[in-house]
Amino acid sequence: MADKGTYYISTPIYYPSSNLHIGHTYCTVMADAMARFKRLQGYDVMFLTGTDEHGQKIQLLAEEKGVTPQQYVDEVVAGIKDLWKTMEISYDDFIRTTEDRHVKRVQELFMRMYKKGDIYKGNYEGWYCTPCESFWTENQLVDGKYCPDCGREVTKAQEEAYFFQISKYSEELLRIFRETPEFLEPEARRNEMISFIEQGMEDLCISRSSFDWGIPVPIDEKHVIYVWLDALSNYITALGWPDEPEKYEKYWPADVHLVGKEIVRFHSIIWPAMLMSADLPLPKQVRGHGWLLLGGEKVSKSKAAKGSDVIDPVVLIDRYGIDALKYFLLREYTFGQDGVFTNEVMLKRLNYDLANDLGNLVSRTVSMIEKYNGGFVPDLTEAGKCVPGEDGVDYDAQLKETAISAADKVGKQMDDFKFNLALEEIWIVVRRANKYIDETMPWILAKNEADKARLDNVLHNLAETIRIISVLIHPFMHTTSDAIRKQLGLWYADVAWDDAFTFEMMAGEQVKKGDAIFPRLDIDKELEELYAISAKAAADKGDINIPLELKDEIVYEDFDKLDLRVGTIISAEKHPKADKLLVFQVKMGTEKRQIVSGVAEYFKPEDCVGQKVVVVANLKPRKLRGIESKGMLLFADNVVDGKERVEFVATAAEDGNPVT
Ligand code: ME8
Repeated sequence: MADKGTYYISTPIYYPSSNLHIGHTYCTVMADAMARFKRLQGYDVMFLTGTDEHGQKIQLLAEEKGVTPQQYVDEVVAGIKDLWKTMEISYDDFIRTTEDRHVKRVQELFMRMYKKGDIYKGNYEGWYCTPCESFWTENQLVDGKYCPDCGREVTKAQEEAYFFQISKYSEELLRIFRETPEFLEPEARRNEMISFIEQGMEDLCISRSSFDWGIPVPIDEKHVIYVWLDALSNYITALGWPDEPEKYEKYWPADVHLVGKEIVRFHSIIWPAMLMSADLPLPKQVRGHGWLLLGGEKVSKSKAAKGSDVIDPVVLIDRYGIDALKYFLLREYTFGQDGVFTNEVMLKRLNYDLANDLGNLVSRTVSMIEKYNGGFVPDLTEAGKCVPGEDGVDYDAQLKETAISAADKVGKQMDDFKFNLALEEIWIVVRRANKYIDETMPWILAKNEADKARLDNVLHNLAETIRIISVLIHPFMHTTSDAIRKQLGLWYADVAWDDAFTFEMMAGEQVKKGDAIFPRLDIDKELEELYAISAKAAADKGDINIPLELKDEIVYEDFDKLDLRVGTIISAEKHPKADKLLVFQVKMGTEKRQIVSGVAEYFKPEDCVGQKVVVVANLKPRKLRGIESKGMLLFADNVVDGKERVEFVATAAEDGNPVT
């Protein structure tokens, strides 16, 4: 495999502030696919991720939980690492900003900037957004009190602080944006940054002294280094800069920092300015991706009644598998743009693309090779060549050309971070192969011995195409790729990108049918179950704000016609003619009356005596299987061990009293 040099890609380091949702995994899934893609192409890859563990936000979260910040981050970070493990994220290093290796190197970077004369002490007076950990001036705020990035309310900050003369680097930054546009993609973000700088940059506050969860400023221990300065440095501290420079020298400058659009400003202005101040090279590129809008969609009434979309990646992975989730995230959304996440869109993609297109292609082909050629992939022969029919199309040549030209097209899209189009290029091959089966109709060829040579070539071409697909999908879905290769009998062979350019590797291989690689999903049933899971999760969290599905609204006057009373059951017996009915004698204050109710399957008569009940007391009397019932008893529905039943609605009130 050709040695292509190094490739360094990073994700942001995550705040250990809450459970990571599907939106957080988006960036990491993209970085993982890119890292795997570059490795497969022969690059020496450094893929870095980690956690951003200092700052006021984390200190406050720990206080709320009644634990130390260190205890708090240790627990949450363990969960984040577990998630990446479950998702088979192939990072090469995971940096935690609380690690010694990071702390001492951040202090060193601070000192380099200080010695350069770019840092001075002063007083900060302005506004602070704690969730974003960012400083704002009065006139940057929205409506005088909201963070322009996240829209949440800011708080006043007034404290002694160190400042970084970032404006010294404005001109140089503008020059970079204009002369090296690829430094920041996409263009819309670049234009935003240019106008941000052109509006004039104030010196940046880079220390805090009103709390202490952070890295101490080396020259003034009353201060901790501003969390963004601390966090951004991770991209070089993880490489060992400056005291263990081997990796730093090998991988820096990074090829790309992959970040969400709201933190592009920190990565393309503050971080480069810090590096300029410390006389270090800048990363080659920052790429800002859009957001997955979660629950942004207006849910229909019936959906809302049942629950909302499940956005917990672990639940989705448990049900559909990691490859399905990764495929969906990479295929559905366009890099740089926002996109709405819903379970329904996801399930449809999984069914159409994975179960129908890819799954069917693999299972049909492997079955046919087993059925028509004893499980062995036939050799190509002259006698079996495609003879173009009336349409003049050489199906074999077209299929081969589509398959062997795909790798270059996928590579081109990947180099542009167009994951969705890279996958589309692969699915063009998948769909072409399915069409080839319909065009060549192997089951018809199999009926006639004279067509055996033609059938052999068809089976061969399909096996080659699927092998190429298994190579192409490997960076995105390596488990599925391996499963397909196992069915193709290629379990012993390493996946190599170069193999996607040839069509002569499968003859003689023995295939073996395995489980369906993606089972077809019953979308309605899945949606019901997902909504139920999310409703339960919300209720477990005490977050019960999902409207119930109710009967039509009534006006007060209708309700007021009901006379509800508290009663005490003084006797109960089985109805002589109906198994389901119990006959109750109920005392309501001064009155005793008989009420028949259909609850015999839930209660023994003797257990009912003494129970308080709510009675619809002014309901017109009627006879139930010959026995008069004056009113109705109210019970609550319940489910015990999966079986429906009813319960008494307990009340402590005196019988005869109205229920109002
Ligand atoms: O910003 N869709 O950390 P973070 C897509 N610690 N991406 C999303 C998303 C969504 N719905 N929600 C969050 C921080 N993200 C800092 C980074 S780097 C030196 C410091 C993305 O945990 C978000 O855009 O708040 C960001 O890129 C990443 O998750 C981490 O966010």
